[in-house]
Amino acid sequence: MRVDPFLVERFMGKYEHQVELNLAETCVKPFRLGEFLRLVGREDYLNELMDLPLTYGHVEGLPELRERIAGLYRDLSPDGVLVTRGAIDANFLAFFSLVEPGDRIVSIFPAYQQLYSLPKAFGAEVRLLHLRESEDWLPDLDRLSRLADGGARLLVVNNPHNPTGALLEESHLRAICDIAGDAGAYVLADESYHGLELGEERVPSMLDVCDRAIVTRSFSKSLSLTGLRLGWIATRDEGVMEELMGHRDYTTISASILLEHLALLAIENIERIYERNRGIVRENLEVVREWVESEPSVDWVPPRAGTVAFPSYSLDLPSEELALRLIREKGVFVVPGCCFEMEGHFRIGFGGDGNELREGLARFSDLLSSIQGGPVI
Ligand SMILES: Cc1ncc(COP(=O)(O)O)c(C=O)c1O
Repeated sequence: MRVDPFLVERFMGKYEHQVELNLAETCVKPFRLGEFLRLVGREDYLNELMDLPLTYGHVEGLPELRERIAGLYRDLSPDGVLVTRGAIDANFLAFFSLVEPGDRIVSIFPAYQQLYSLPKAFGAEVRLLHLRESEDWLPDLDRLSRLADGGARLLVVNNPHNPTGALLEESHLRAICDIAGDAGAYVLADESYHGLELGEERVPSMLDVCDRAIVTRSFSKSLSLTGLRLGWIATRDEGVMEELMGHRDYTTISASILLEHLALLAIENIERIYERNRGIVRENLEVVREWVESEPSVDWVPPRAGTVAFPSYSLDLPSEELALRLIREKGVFVVPGCCFEMEGHFRIGFGGDGNELREGLARFSDLLSSIQGGPVI
């Protein structure tokens, strides 16, 4: 089976361990294990696990963990939750289970590439719903309706959105669900950055407003436990769950029972983690905002949630060259727009260390002022 190269993964894999200042990260400052256990008040927890039998555990996921995850949603039974190895595995499982060759899939673009390249690899006819900067990177619902018209298997969204930081509010979620209903489609909502609103508003999960939803999420990004490599997929649709289970038997057996116990601690203390993490992203966002406002060649639609933004720049330089010069001359790492098949942009992550962010942006400014060339965009 042919699959397109995953551009952002290839680029990050090549450079992220060579750079001094990494502003390309999408996770909120990952916990050190001790820091996490201290935050949740369970420093002795590893000792408590000494008698844990290291078996396969429960194939669908640790029962207490599924129950806690289900509790994050309105009236969801634990039977509607499957524990996966990160959101990437959850998304894979959704496409692997539901997409037949020739099915129509409508996916937002730009996006985390898995969301459109993988269904294409499974033989789907993938239609892209182009998000536009001039529309605050929000989907145009009439265009979505036209793309889905005549029937679709899945409408794929990502909320909050990587790479732009756009946020679909409840009214958008409901409208997308209605369009899916008219098209006879399910909505696959990747909610990896859920809970990281940058303002005071809270946005519900697609699963809480749409019975056709299949949602994916993980312990990475907004929960800072990326190294657990755990996530989940949730749905209210019993037929979909049956398909997911039947396909998952061929890819996973079970997640790690040891790590599921750590994940359980995280879910039990999810509000404390959100409090830490919203503090980090909100403070860092102001650093990026000040920088963007001070840079004449850089502009943006300010992100409304998550850990990333997708500013534009007006220099006569391809995005890859800009990013490579930033790496080589300044030791600073951002993701060029070309990794999202969009020139004239770069993705910056602001979930990390504030001092690293300030220093990285100062060096970015040095590079921008040393670059000659007139505006072209
Ligand atoms: C939108 C989105 N979905 C899924 C993933 C996969 O993350 P993980 O498997 O760590 O949950 C990422 C990672 O960058 C992402 O940005």
